[in-house]
Amino acid sequence: MDYSSLIDRTRLPKHIAIIMDGNGRWAKEQGKDRVYGHHEGVLSVRDIVNGAAEIGISYLTLYAFSTENWNRPKEEVKALMELLVNTIRREADDLKKNGVRLHVIGDMESLPVICQKEMQEAIDMTAHNDRLNLVLALSYSARWEITHAAKMIGREVALGTIRPEDIDENYFAQHLATASFPDPELMIRTSGEHRISNYLLWQLAYAELYFTPVHWPAFRKAHLLEAIYNYQQRERRFGLTSEQISNATKNTVQH
Ligand code: IPE
Ligand code: IPE
Ligand code: MG
Repeated sequence: MDYSSLIDRTRLPKHIAIIMDGNGRWAKEQGKDRVYGHHEGVLSVRDIVNGAAEIGISYLTLYAFSTENWNRPKEEVKALMELLVNTIRREADDLKKNGVRLHVIGDMESLPVICQKEMQEAIDMTAHNDRLNLVLALSYSARWEITHAAKMIGREVALGTIRPEDIDENYFAQHLATASFPDPELMIRTSGEHRISNYLLWQLAYAELYFTPVHWPAFRKAHLLEAIYNYQQRERRFGLTSEQISNATKNTVQH
């Protein structure tokens, strides 16, 4: 089906978050090793970044490496770090040309120094772009992020910058790594697992979740369009009743 013509361009999600899963299983199906799957996964990243920019998505967050992924076999972690450095080095010019602004969320200091350096260069190089914000979650986990925010706020309380009773949701969110991004409206996980795996636990509070059996290295723009179409068929209620939502829509249309 051609989802491109079915999508309502006036109701696109501003922010899509993706858990890029299934590189290893995809490679195994091809009779190759896991690292081959990670390499092929980079082609999907390129296609989805360009696709998201073409569709008109403003924020795309990709889960590239979790805190828990450090516990994988040493050789796989090493290969993933090398792939990261080489990919950023190779793609930075194109990101700049295509209007993509790069951001990283996660414990940057835990990454190899060369990785930190390449990332920072690409972040600086693309800092003036505003077509698509590409957020890479690297050495990221939501519990790490939330604990980090709590520590910062604890320090501010100790210094007397804020009183505990004045801490609200907005103040807390401003201390998360995603402080300058809107919350994702849509979260996609590839490869058939139905879990969040420590991803954006705060930010996904009201996101629509979309799971597809397609492995990440096989995921392309057409799949992204299908996910957006599926998202647009849903009614987001935010705790209200369906009647309240349709009355509010009618009123918006009338005024
Ligand atoms: C996702 O694919 C990539 C990373 C987590 C780095 P996996 O490597 O998790 O692939 P599967 O889930 O084992 O197939
Ligand atoms: C989540 O995938 C992390 C990334 C995609 C980077 P995993 O493959 O690590 O998640 P689990 O272990 O299956 O939950
Ligand atoms: Mg996996």
